[in-house]
Formats: sequence, structure tokens, C-alpha cells
Amino acid sequence: MNIILLGPPGAGKGTQARRLVDERNMIQLSTGDMLREARTSGTEMGQVVADVMDRGGLVTDEIVIGLIEEKLEQDHGGGFIFDGFPRTLRQADALGELLAKHGTTLDAVIEMQVDDSALVARIVARSTCGACGEVYNDLTKPQPTDGKCSKCGASDFKRRADDNEESLRNRLMEYYKKTSPLIGYYYAKGELKSIDGLGEIDAIAGQIRDILDKK
Ligand code: AP5
Ligand code: MG
Repeated sequence: MNIILLGPPGAGKGTQARRLVDERNMIQLSTGDMLREARTSGTEMGQVVADVMDRGGLVTDEIVIGLIEEKLEQDHGGGFIFDGFPRTLRQADALGELLAKHGTTLDAVIEMQVDDSALVARIVARSTCGACGEVYNDLTKPQPTDGKCSKCGASDFKRRADDNEESLRNRLMEYYKKTSPLIGYYYAKGELKSIDGLGEIDAIAGQIRDILDKK
């Protein structure tokens, strides 16, 4: 089964994708995570990516489509969760073509709806484990008091360079200008399922489970 988690920054895409990896043996393909890895490469491309990300802009379609194309070559396991991809109509078309080339299709596009004030509150409170990527939140899922990640035991918590007010404003603007048209795109294809992304993490996981169980 292949699904897209679609939503603005802070909607909870990464949080829910990681649960699906654990529960359904799916593979999470987060272009944000891939680009964060690329920017540490020390190459010229890595520097360009870092500048764009820190400002909250979108990296070029060519770069992200190339990253996804490479990942689709690996074994499917329980299917792919596209987290933060596609983000433009061009990326959406490219994904359709790539999946067709591999003889597969999308099973659902899950739009996670969260209002802007909640997004800002969530993002400024976010941290992640530098070792395994587990996501924490000062308000709703604080780092364990023993200072060790509850998932892998490492003590290396990080905050993202683009989790500040100015970058977030740009990220939201990019979402509304370039990514939100995908809601209509996938609705017209009959693939869109919209869920309420506000509320308990478990309750949202339940809504996603209900959609996937009907597939
Ligand atoms: P990316 O890494 O994809 O960031 P994003 O889309 O801005 O989304 P986030 O990762 O910030 O949010 P999320 O929805 O994953 O939320 P999370 O689960 O962490 O992209 C970063 C950058 O890379 C982009 O700006 C762009 O520059 C570039 N890029 C990436 N993909 C690209 C593409 N395809 N094309 C071009 N450029 C691309 O949750 C957030 C916080 O809320 C956490 O603290 C979490 O614990 C908490 N939380 C989660 N769920 C709940 C809940 N239900 N209630 C309360 N708190 C919750
Ligand atoms: Mg994320």
C-alpha cells in the first residue's frame, strides 16, 4: 500500500508516518529528512539546499524528484509513506509516473487539517532525537526526564534550524501557494481523504487506521 501524508508544516506528518512504519512495516520517504541528510554532505548542492531550507523555501523539483526516484528502487516491504512529497503539481505528476513505471499506484492521499495557530505552537515546541529521529514536543510529548530517547536510548536531542518564526511564515506561505493545490488535484482523482489533524496523536492515528483498513 502506498500513501501520501499531505499537510502544512507541523501537521503531524512525520509523527504519524513513524507510527505506520512500526505498525504496518511501511517505508517512510520524507524528502525533508533526505534533504537534511544531503545538506551535511559538504557539497555545493548541500549548501544550496541548506540555504533554501533555512529560509523556508522549496528546493527544486529536479532535486527532490531525483531523491524519490532513487528510493523507489528499493524493496517495497509494506509500501511507501510519502511524507512531505509531493509539494508541487509537477512533483505530483512525477510521482504518478514513477509509481506507474514500477507497476504500482497510490492507495490514498491523507490530508491532515490543522489550523495555523496550532501549527506555530507545535513547531516552536518540537525537538527530535538526533540518533533515531523520534519526534518530541515540549508541550505534548516532552523529552524523557532521564535525558534519553524513549525509542533508542540516545541523548542527542536537536531542534531544526527552520523551526523559527520567520522561516515558518515562509514555509506556510509556500504551502498555501504551491502545495495546497494538490488537495484539489487528488480530490479530482478520487484519491483524497481529509482528516482532522487536531487532537490526540492516538486519535489521529485511529483515523488513519480506519482509512487504510478500508483499502
Ligand atoms: P519537512 O521536513 O517536510 O518539513 P514540513 O513539511 O515543514 O513539516 P514538518 O516536518 O515541520 O512537520 P510534520 O508535519 O512532519 O510534523 P511533526 O510530525 O514533526 O521539509 C523541510 C524543508 O525541506 C521544506 O521547508 C523545504 O525547504 C524542503 N523540502 C522538503 N520536501 C520538499 C519537497 N518535496 N519539495 C521541495 N522542498 C522540500 O509534528 C510537529 C510537532 O507537533 C512535533 O513536536 C510533534 O510532536 C507535535 N505533534 C504531532 N502531532 C500532534 C498532535 N496531534 N497534537 C499535538 N502535537 C502534535
Ligand atoms: Mg516532518
